[in-house]
Amino acid sequence: MILLDGKKTSADIKEEIALEVRELKGKGYKTPHLAAVIVGNDGASITYVNAKVKACERVGFESTLIRLSDETTEEDLLNEIAILNVDKDIDGFIVQLPLPKHIDEQKILMAINPDKDVDGFHPTNVGKMALNLPTFISATPFGILELLDRYNVETYGKHVVVLGRSHIVGSPMSILLSQKRKVGNATVTMCHSRTKNLKDITLQADIIIAAIGIPEFLKADMVKDHVTVIDVGITRLPDSSKRNGFRLVGDVAFKEVAEKAAFITPVPGGVGPMTIAMLLKNTLLACKRKNQN
Ligand code: GUN
Repeated sequence: MILLDGKKTSADIKEEIALEVRELKGKGYKTPHLAAVIVGNDGASITYVNAKVKACERVGFESTLIRLSDETTEEDLLNEIAILNVDKDIDGFIVQLPLPKHIDEQKILMAINPDKDVDGFHPTNVGKMALNLPTFISATPFGILELLDRYNVETYGKHVVVLGRSHIVGSPMSILLSQKRKVGNATVTMCHSRTKNLKDITLQADIIIAAIGIPEFLKADMVKDHVTVIDVGITRLPDSSKRNGFRLVGDVAFKEVAEKAAFITPVPGGVGPMTIAMLLKNTLLACKRKNQN
């Protein structure tokens, strides 16, 4: 079994980005600049956004963190986005999800300038992704493609089973892996909460992408030998033995599935760290595109 080490791979990618940033600066180009907007006080979201900002510093990007209170109105947030959309110094920005209930998420995502949408959530960018046109691929699917690529996991003609149909992971992942691309050309089956005979399907999979948010859902008796397993799940389970009071659990019963797997991602340290590296990659791309114009 080979562990798909997202921590190490993301560190490699960040090093590559840092090198490119130094080269850009050396040639007199501007420093890439990412802004992140967060509304409210959700602990996990704050942790993620802080990690994104810290990663910017490490690779030599500039970053701006905009923290807005729980009471922020939809109009206030739209105003903030309008400012970021035209700010010449900001190459890309993200609005951390989930948003408080009183704010319409889709309306917010639609308001982001697609050229600065480094999350790749705007319908224009989702459409381009679906048509296999150059765009920002969202961080989690992009990170999974990169991980499969760097570990030379064969996808051509393989049967990939995607568990989950979310807009952020399951849906784009199933589209991307079926496309004609370097990591792609797979036969994809997408499963979700209404799928019947799920185990019959997962037992046929060469590669399983688990993105349903149910801790340790995928068990050893649901996979065949030499399967590749990508675990996107990351649930905080209360654990009084931990200093922070919780432990992170994926969608895969790691220990038992790892015994049958050819490749598998750990949780934490698998897909999670990759997403930040890919967000940085998209920001660098946004900056370089701007330089070209
Ligand atoms: N919440 C969980 N994942 C993400 C992400 O990739 N981007 C944003 N903006 N919010 C998230």
